[in-house]
Amino acid sequence: MIIPTHIPMASLLHFFPLLHFPFIIFCCMAVKPSPKPYIVYMGSSLNANGGDDMTHLQLLSSLIPSEESDRKFLINSYNHALKGFSAFLTENEASVLSAHDEVVSVFPDPVLKLHTTHSWDFLEAADSKSRSIYPHEQNSADVIIGIIDTGIWPESPSFDDRHIGKIPPKWKGVCMESSDFKKSNCNRKLIGARFYSNRAILTKPNKKHPTETRGSPRDSVGHGTHTASTAGGVTVANASYYGLAMGTARGGFPYARIASYKACTLDGCPASIILKAIDDAIKDGVDIISISVGISSMFQSDFLNDPIAIGAFHAEQMGVMVVCSGGNDGPDPYTIVNSAPWIFTVAASTIDRDFESTIVLGNNESYESIAINFSPLTPGKIYPLVFGEKVATSFTPASDARNCIPGSLDTKKVEGKIIVCMNEMPNVSRRIKKLVVEDAKAKGVIIIDGQREISPFDSGTYPLAEVGETVGFKILHYINSTENPTATILPSKEIRKSKPAPVVASFSSRGPGGLTENILKPDIAAPGVAILASIVPKIESFYGAPGNKSSKFGIKSGTSMACPHVTGAMAYIKSVHPHWSFSMIKSALMTTASMSNNMGKTLTNTSNFPANAHEVGVGEISPIKALDPGLAFDTTINDHLNFLCYYGYNHKRIRSMSHRNFTCPKSSAEELISSINYPTISIGRLNQREGPRKVKRIVTNLGSPNATYVSSINTPSGLLVKVVPKKIVFREGINIASFKVFFDGKEASKGYNFGDIRWFDGSHVVRVVFAVKIE
Ligand SMILES: *[C@@H]1O[C@H](CO)[C@@H](O)[C@H](O)[C@H]1NC(C)=O
Ligand SMILES: *[C@@H]1O[C@H](CO)[C@@H](O)[C@H](O)[C@H]1NC(C)=O
Ligand SMILES: *[C@@H]1O[C@H](CO)[C@@H](O)[C@H](O)[C@H]1NC(C)=O
Ligand SMILES: *[C@@H]1O[C@H](CO)[C@@H](O)[C@H](O)[C@H]1NC(C)=O
Ligand SMILES: *[C@@H]1O[C@H](CO)[C@@H](O)[C@H](O)[C@H]1NC(C)=O
Ligand SMILES: *[C@@H]1O[C@H](CO)[C@@H](O)[C@H](O)[C@H]1NC(C)=O
Ligand SMILES: *[C@@H]1O[C@H](CO)[C@@H](O)[C@H](O)[C@H]1NC(C)=O
Ligand SMILES: *[C@@H]1O[C@H](CO)[C@@H](O)[C@H](O)[C@H]1NC(C)=O
Repeated sequence: MIIPTHIPMASLLHFFPLLHFPFIIFCCMAVKPSPKPYIVYMGSSLNANGGDDMTHLQLLSSLIPSEESDRKFLINSYNHALKGFSAFLTENEASVLSAHDEVVSVFPDPVLKLHTTHSWDFLEAADSKSRSIYPHEQNSADVIIGIIDTGIWPESPSFDDRHIGKIPPKWKGVCMESSDFKKSNCNRKLIGARFYSNRAILTKPNKKHPTETRGSPRDSVGHGTHTASTAGGVTVANASYYGLAMGTARGGFPYARIASYKACTLDGCPASIILKAIDDAIKDGVDIISISVGISSMFQSDFLNDPIAIGAFHAEQMGVMVVCSGGNDGPDPYTIVNSAPWIFTVAASTIDRDFESTIVLGNNESYESIAINFSPLTPGKIYPLVFGEKVATSFTPASDARNCIPGSLDTKKVEGKIIVCMNEMPNVSRRIKKLVVEDAKAKGVIIIDGQREISPFDSGTYPLAEVGETVGFKILHYINSTENPTATILPSKEIRKSKPAPVVASFSSRGPGGLTENILKPDIAAPGVAILASIVPKIESFYGAPGNKSSKFGIKSGTSMACPHVTGAMAYIKSVHPHWSFSMIKSALMTTASMSNNMGKTLTNTSNFPANAHEVGVGEISPIKALDPGLAFDTTINDHLNFLCYYGYNHKRIRSMSHRNFTCPKSSAEELISSINYPTISIGRLNQREGPRKVKRIVTNLGSPNATYVSSINTPSGLLVKVVPKKIVFREGINIASFKVFFDGKEASKGYNFGDIRWFDGSHVVRVVFAVKIE
């Protein structure tokens, strides 16, 4: 269950062959099963017998043989919103525990990964348009955002508290100290910072209790500082990345308070610590939790074995909303993670800003490439240009050398030249190619991409340019056409108002959800490509920063960067409408999202096809429109408990997860999930011959009390959709109404059919997206 982090292992192995050793398995020496960290989840802490460390320890002690008393301690204990603990258990002990009366689930403690793009090759530019459009009122309600990530760099100008008022009394959190982090590093903006013992102590049972290891709330990676400043950073003028993306950086809601929970390092995030951080954040009094981290899409088992799903479930019961990135495993279907209905799941899209680097060939033709580089090369000087397959080491297959895989290039033939590499092997990332050609002393590299990679690779001062197939063919043709082909790669410049935008990022994970197809996921899209935000100002050794100076801002890509945009938008709406429930705010953002781009056309994917709901959910967030959605779908805690019943969990376990006297509905089937009161509709299976399928919804009127809404339907030909009633009339005192939708697929084409229902009252359009799979 260990998931690779975003540093490509292949590249590390190539350059540090000794790293192979830790992976050697001594297959036949172990006789005794070795204990591993497990999470033992025991439901809600708010029902009758709330959890405490004593009872958890007793439970553990009853299980572990006396000669192994050194294992009788809790690595983490959960007792604020949820109940449970993590501890070292053998497989057998875990299975015995999972049958225990008070236990809901027991699962190994996986390492979750950060949702920046594949390597950390991403980048980001703050689009002033999408981020600074809305007016902010200083005396609006206080909203506290909890960021669970790699920690925080408190000195960043994004966390300046000059224009922020007193810390609200509802805040119960702490500012933990360490050798490099003082209480004074917290302020009225960054109101809390916690850290957790790191993974090292979890890899083997400790003789003693896991006393505090060296740790700190301080971010050493940059991911957490970037996401926190995107969600709630204050306005910073003249922010840029070495002059690129120059402009005003600001978070989605600059008046939000930020509390940082450092649960992750560069190696990922232990699930047991994520769960602890969520439990702490709820106790501390945060309003929204933002998590740009997830389990690998290949290892999703079910909702009750997923720490984020469990934590978010309890957060939601306590009125705390959880926003998560959907993952970067796109564009394949079924790659979306963090897909529980009580989580707000975010896909990534582009903004109208590109970074281009000009390639000038010896024949004076020039081409624009996608890149972020601070190339020292100048237009005046050109270098020999060669295709990778022509400079292979002996016995290397041409297919390896044309992709510039490690070990395939002959340094003697490469030195001083610009190399052209194909990007045909998904396991040889851009970052690996850069390391390979740099290692062989090449002057620069041009990467030809079949499928357009949408996130520009940040190669620092190294001249790297990326082109599509069409331009790539022209460059290869030029190489063929002349005796001594030459070229140069110029430093990147910024292109504003690029079109079309937004476009769904190719890396953004796609629906449908692998666990159930009866909830539509992802929910919504937000900017996640080339976003400028605060980072840790340090110089990466491999990187070569311009002028060898550090930058306070960095450009990153990933659904990690999209998630805090939605978090910030929610905080903003919450501050204007403090009495709306978070599911109403989620609904408001979803029914008002935009499906058009800056050319007035339907939003597309990177292959220029209209994007469907499994790619963008309901579309791009429009926070201003969401302030006045007209109607809302209020998904209640009961809806979520019913969801667990329909999904098939046993009634006793569900009851222990809730502090109410909850009973599963009498009839329970997976298809009933389609009728929980979600702002979108998904039917995972509809047989052509089964006749009309009924789905129910309840809407709450948030607009003026006298309103009449009429429905219209957008459906692909063949799929029959009927809304009953067609018209809904609200009056004073009657602000809730229900409607039914019937889907009949007898003439529909097989596979997924997408469409929407629109409720219109003369001013508000309430758009309800549906996805129906016909069989
Ligand atoms: C930002 O840059 C402009 C022009 O370079 C300058 O006039 C202004 O003073 C700068 N503002 C800050 C806050 O540095
Ligand atoms: C390219 O342009 C430069 C300057 O404009 C000129 O000196 C050179 O002869 C041109 N080369 C070719 C092959 O046209
Ligand atoms: C990448 O995958 C190909 C097969 O798809 C394999 O032949 C090659 O060895 C892999 N390369 C690396 C560096 O892992
Ligand atoms: C370049 O020449 C090789 C043969 O030497 C040929 O296979 C290839 O298709 C040519 N490429 C282009 C783009 O003309
Ligand atoms: C860049 O700066 C770092 C310290 O900030 C220093 O260790 C390194 O030698 C410098 N590199 C160059 C090329 O000046
Ligand atoms: C874009 O959508 C089309 C049509 O649904 C699909 O065939 C194509 O694979 C998609 N492209 C990407 C990059 O997802
Ligand atoms: C829980 O509800 C059921 C019926 O919904 C009722 O029979 C039972 O007495 C209730 N239990 C408690 C403890 O309130
Ligand atoms: C709504 O309609 C009722 C009856 O028609 C009227 O008395 C009331 O003033 C109206 N309310 C608003 C806010 O327009």
